[in-house]
Amino acid sequence: MSRANEPGGVLDRPPLKVALLGCGVVGSAVARLLIEQHDDLAARVGAPLELAGIAVRRPNRHPDVPAELLTTDAQALVERADIDLVIEVIGGIEPARTLLLSALKAGKSVVSANKALLAEDGSTLHAAASANGADLYYEASVAGAIPLLRPLRESLAGDRINRVMGIVNGTTNFILSQMTATGAGFSEALAEATALGYAEADPTADVDGYDAAAKAAILAGLAFHTPVTAADVYREGISEVTAADVASAAAMNCTVKLLAICERAGTEAAPTVSVRVHPAMIPNSHPLAGVGDAYNAVFVEAAAAGSLMFYGRGAGGEPTASAVLGDLVAVARNRVSGSRGAGESAYADLPITPIGDVITRYHVALDVADRPGVLAAVAGAFAENGVSIQTVRQEGRGADATLVLVTHAAPDSALAATVESLSGRDFIRRAGSVMRVEGLTGE
Ligand SMILES: NC(=O)c1ccc[n+]([C@@H]2O[C@H](COP(=O)([O-])OP(=O)(O)OC[C@H]3O[C@@H](n4cnc5c(N)ncnc54)[C@H](OP(=O)(O)O)[C@@H]3O)[C@@H](O)[C@H]2O)c1
Repeated sequence: MSRANEPGGVLDRPPLKVALLGCGVVGSAVARLLIEQHDDLAARVGAPLELAGIAVRRPNRHPDVPAELLTTDAQALVERADIDLVIEVIGGIEPARTLLLSALKAGKSVVSANKALLAEDGSTLHAAASANGADLYYEASVAGAIPLLRPLRESLAGDRINRVMGIVNGTTNFILSQMTATGAGFSEALAEATALGYAEADPTADVDGYDAAAKAAILAGLAFHTPVTAADVYREGISEVTAADVASAAAMNCTVKLLAICERAGTEAAPTVSVRVHPAMIPNSHPLAGVGDAYNAVFVEAAAAGSLMFYGRGAGGEPTASAVLGDLVAVARNRVSGSRGAGESAYADLPITPIGDVITRYHVALDVADRPGVLAAVAGAFAENGVSIQTVRQEGRGADATLVLVTHAAPDSALAATVESLSGRDFIRRAGSVMRVEGLTGE
C-alpha cells in the first residue's frame, strides 16, 4: 500500500472540494485546521480535502484568508458544480436554511454547527438529505467539542435511552458557578461573564434559555427517535435566580444549574417525551454539580448501558472546529466509499408531555408570618393539591421567618396550583422562590 505522499498515494487522488459558509469564531478555526492538517486528513479520508471557497458577509474583515477563496455570494458558492461538501457556520435560520437545502438537493453532503436551524427545521433538512443521497451531520451544534450526537445516533442505537440531562450552555454555567462561588447576585455575575467574554453583548439567547432549548430539542429527537422542535421545549432562563436561591441550595447540599432535561415519560402503552430547560437544584453528589466554569456536561441514562457522562468544552472556535472536522471526515469518507451515514430516525413519533404533567420535585421558599398554625395551614395547602412534603425547615424568626419546603415528586400543575392558592393567604408575606429539584434519590 502506498503512503499518502508517494506517487499514487491519496494526495494524488482527485480532491473532494469543500465550501465553507461563514468564517467567524468557528469558521476561521475550521479553515486553519483544514489547511494545517491537510495531509493527515487526506490519509484519514482516502482523498484530499480542498478548501475551494469561503463565503462571508464582509470580505475586508478577513485579511488572513487567501482573497481568491473569498466570496460574498454564498448561494453561488453552494451551487458551484465542483463543490462536493458544504460546511455551514453562519448560524441563524436564513439564509442558512436556503443554502443548506440547495446543497442537499444537489446531492452535496452538509456539516453544520447551527443548533437554531436544526432545532427549528431539522426534519426538512433530513428529508432533503435522504431524498438526494447526501449526509447531514451536526455534531458541533450541541455541546461544542463533546462527542455526543454520534454516540446517541450510533453507539447507543441498540439501547433504550430513558433520560438525557445536561449542562449545555457555558455562559449560564459560568454565571451560576460565579454566583455559587462568590455569593454574587445574577446581575453582578452576568457583568463579570460579559467582561471576561463568556457572555455576548446581548445575552438573551443564553440567559433566557433559548440556546439550551434548541440543544435540548436536538438531543431529545436523537435520544427518543422522534421529531422535536425548539417550540416543543418548556423553557425558563436564569435571570430570576437569586443569591438567596443559591444559598438555599447550598444549605441542603445542592447546587443550582441550568439543566436541559429530556425524558421518556407517559406509560409503557402510551409513551411520551418531556423536554424542558430550567434552573434546578441538584445534589452536590451528582456528577453534574461539579461541572464548573463554562464547561458543558451531559448525563445519559440508558436501559442497558446504565449511566454515561460526556464532559468537555461546549464552545469556542477550536473546540467547535474539532467537532466540525470530525463530521467533515465522516461525510468525506462516506463520499469516497459511495455510502451514506445514518439519516434521521424519527419513527417513534412520540407526543410531547405538557409541562403541567411533568413530574418533578420542588424547593419552595415562603416568607411567612411567624405565628402558631401557619405551618399547619401551609401543609394543608400542599395536601389539598396532592403535593406531599418531604422536608420542611424554618429559617429566621419574626418578620424574617421563611419556611423552606422540599416536596416529593408531583405534577408541575399541582405545584403551580399550591403556590397560587398560598399566594393570597394573609400569613404569606411573600411567595419566594419555587425551584425544581433534580437528581435526588427516592420518590
Ligand atoms: N462560537 C462558538 O463557540 C460556537 C459553538 C458551537 C456552535 N456554534 C455555532 O456555529 C455557528 C457559527 O458561530 P460563530 O460563533 O462562528 O459565528 P460568527 O463568529 O458570528 O461568524 C459568523 C460568520 O458567518 C458569516 N456570515 C453571516 N451572514 C452571512 C451571509 N449572509 N453570507 C455569508 N456569510 C455570512 C460572517 O461573515 P463576516 O465575518 O464577514 O461578518 C461570519 O464570518 C452558529 O450556528 C453557532 O450557533 C458556535
